[in-house]
Amino acid sequence: MNRRLGVLISGRGSNLQALIDATRDGLLDATIAVVISNRGDAAGLQRAQRAGIETLCLDHRASPSRDAHDRAVAHELRARDVGLVCLAGYMRLIGAPLLDAFPDAILNIHPSLLPAFPGVDAQRMALEHGVKVTGVTVHFVTSELDNGPIVIQRIVQVMDNDMPDTLAARILVEEHRVYPEAVRVVLDGAWRIEGRRFVRSVNAASA
Ligand code: GRF
Repeated sequence: MNRRLGVLISGRGSNLQALIDATRDGLLDATIAVVISNRGDAAGLQRAQRAGIETLCLDHRASPSRDAHDRAVAHELRARDVGLVCLAGYMRLIGAPLLDAFPDAILNIHPSLLPAFPGVDAQRMALEHGVKVTGVTVHFVTSELDNGPIVIQRIVQVMDNDMPDTLAARILVEEHRVYPEAVRVVLDGAWRIEGRRFVRSVNAASA
């Protein structure tokens, strides 16, 4: 698979930083070709610039429609020969123009064990629901929110004295481990999608 990544962000960019660090440290054999934010004030843009990565701000409010914005994002990604798109705190639904441009090639990271607690504020919802374990999911992006084939999940215990922020902080530590790992698994390429299932080849799964 083409190892050029495009990372889409809207904010803080700590998962972007985990991907930057993993590529820099040789844990992830990939190049981040471009970081695109839909918000000019996303702190993640500075993280990318500090790492010498090209950044673009494509403000969705400047596009006449959702499809037009997605087309513009797809155009910029393709212009840089991106093979895999990583959403990292990108607060937009992905529409057909972008999905069609990158079939089975857009990943997202979500701070819960999907299909539990999709959408925003997943850590607070898990806490309020009273689950004893929650975690992290990296999955392929489809037209339905937080609903595509699951690449990797990791468990995080919920403690009795957790608050939303303490739980989110422990989940975030796991996010930063698992996202580079999931990107590596996908780039290594020995997998297929069967229905909803992401299935690794036998040799790859034991590697
Ligand atoms: C993370 O919790 C991620 O799972 C969710 O949005 C948050 C983004 O954080 N999709 P950051 O911008 O990567 O720090």
